Amino acid sequence: MAFGEKGAVSKWWLVPAAFVAVLLVLAVVFINSDMYIGMMSTKTPKYELGEHRGAAVCGTCHSKIYKEWLGHSRHAVATTNESFLRTRDYVEGNLFLGMMMGEESCYACHGIKGGAEGINCEICHGPAAPGLSITQLHETTYRPDLSAMKEKDFCAKCHELFPPLMSPYSQWLESKAAEEGLTCQGCHMAPVDGIAYHGFDSIMHNPGIYEDDLVLRDINLTFPNISMVVENRIKGHGMPSGGPSRVLVLEISVTDDQGKELHKVVDTFYRKFELYPEMLGSMPSAVVIEDTTLKSLEARAMSYALPAKIEGKMRKAAITLRFYDVADQYQGNIEKAHWISGPVVTAELELR
Ligand code: HEC
Ligand code: HEC
Ligand code: HEC
Ligand code: HEC
Ligand code: HEC
Repeated sequence: MAFGEKGAVSKWWLVPAAFVAVLLVLAVVFINSDMYIGMMSTKTPKYELGEHRGAAVCGTCHSKIYKEWLGHSRHAVATTNESFLRTRDYVEGNLFLGMMMGEESCYACHGIKGGAEGINCEICHGPAAPGLSITQLHETTYRPDLSAMKEKDFCAKCHELFPPLMSPYSQWLESKAAEEGLTCQGCHMAPVDGIAYHGFDSIMHNPGIYEDDLVLRDINLTFPNISMVVENRIKGHGMPSGGPSRVLVLEISVTDDQGKELHKVVDTFYRKFELYPEMLGSMPSAVVIEDTTLKSLEARAMSYALPAKIEGKMRKAAITLRFYDVADQYQGNIEKAHWISGPVVTAELELR
């Protein structure tokens, strides 16, 4: 994948585009390189593009797990959701990105190309040999071994990429949860009715999941200053902790008697980064140049000065915390968000 092959020379002007290219370019170049295979072999996802029986087959017996996986998880929609398809098509349709990679690479973590199931049971548990009857599945060649799946780095195979860019695992290693021996599975898959939970709940389905994990407290308004504490109570990792497209946003909307907005404050918790693809013999890399995400168990004091001209006119201040999803190339610019969650936390102040 050396830069400069086939026609790249006449398209030298595309080089600067490399510096703002999406994370995914790197992922692909990196994954295709020998260095990756050498460095990351322990992290390479185990699944194969071989034949899968499909989740519904597993679901005939494991119906509770199947329903959780299908009804809640982003894993089940990882090859079909709008946000993935848009990004994939952006990559495919972009001259520079298309030149360096195809859409293939996405499927190293998102599921099977052409498959409609995203990350199905067999991607995590291993493919069930074709040709066997359902009842033979567990008795013969297919013997799911759970011990490797309970390992602390199991999820990191897909969830850790160019740390600190996407680094819940590195964060976890230094967290209180790690100290206590509480793994990703221990929190995210804590048994429900005695069976490991498979819903892997996301903010996209249920803003309620952040209750008590993300807290807004000590709100104080002494004109012109409005201050508060935003706290991440998750003892396993930061917030947002995952992919760089997720941005946590604090919005303060100040309104008058009629409910008309007089002033708005918008602040973001996210990572700003620069990407360097494989070029001139150097390895691809991601450099995080700013990181305002909330660390595990961090309580951050935030303070803003309101404009003097609204004094006397303001009646209410509504404070909201919510998540936005912004394509990587827009780096936290929420104007470019293509997906927004419902409010996760809200507070309202009345002034007499
Ligand atoms: C014919 C019914 C049936 C089908 C179909 C089936 N399983 Fe199972 N599975 C079982 C039974 C029974 C057990 C043992 C149950 C127990 O431990 O209570 C089991 C156990 C498991 C375990 C736990 C193994 C362990 O070491 O504890 C995993 C993981 C698993 N199945 C995954 C799958 C996957 C993935 C599929 C689809 C490819 C699948 N099963 C299809 C009946 C089935
Ligand atoms: C993202 C990866 C992932 C996917 C997708 C997944 N599993 Fe699992 N599964 C795990 C892990 C990890 C465990 C072990 C959890 C633990 O015990 O800590 C597990 C445990 C299990 C168990 C044993 C549960 C218990 O408590 O004894 C069964 C059965 C199982 N999975 C079936 C399925 C089926 C059926 C599907 C598809 C509908 C599926 N899994 C999809 C990762 C996955
Ligand atoms: C085969 C790769 C793979 C493995 C293994 C995997 N995940 Fe995922 N996971 C993904 C992908 C890809 C997404 C995003 C799917 C999408 O939204 O398009 C995701 C999404 C999630 C989400 C939802 C995040 C959100 O808010 O949108 C959670 C939570 C999650 N995974 C937890 C886990 C945990 C815990 C484990 C380990 C038990 C695990 N995953 C194992 C690939 C994987
Ligand atoms: C101490 C419990 C705990 C541990 C350990 C933990 N998590 Fe989480 N995680 C949460 C909670 C709580 C949330 C927020 C709401 C929810 O999903 O329930 C969350 C959210 C997430 C999200 C959603 C997206 C985001 O950006 O915040 C992902 C992805 C995730 N965790 C992955 C992981 C992975 C991978 C590991 C292991 C390296 C892990 N988590 C370990 C509790 C934990
Ligand atoms: C190393 C594994 C890996 C590779 C390779 C990868 N992804 Fe992902 N992707 C993830 C994980 C894990 C998440 C979930 C992050 C989270 O929510 O914390 C994710 C999330 C996403 C999201 C956000 C999904 C949502 O629901 O909002 C998009 C979009 C996405 N990936 C697109 C792509 C595209 C396009 C490619 C290929 C060019 C790709 N990814 C390659 C692991 C990967």
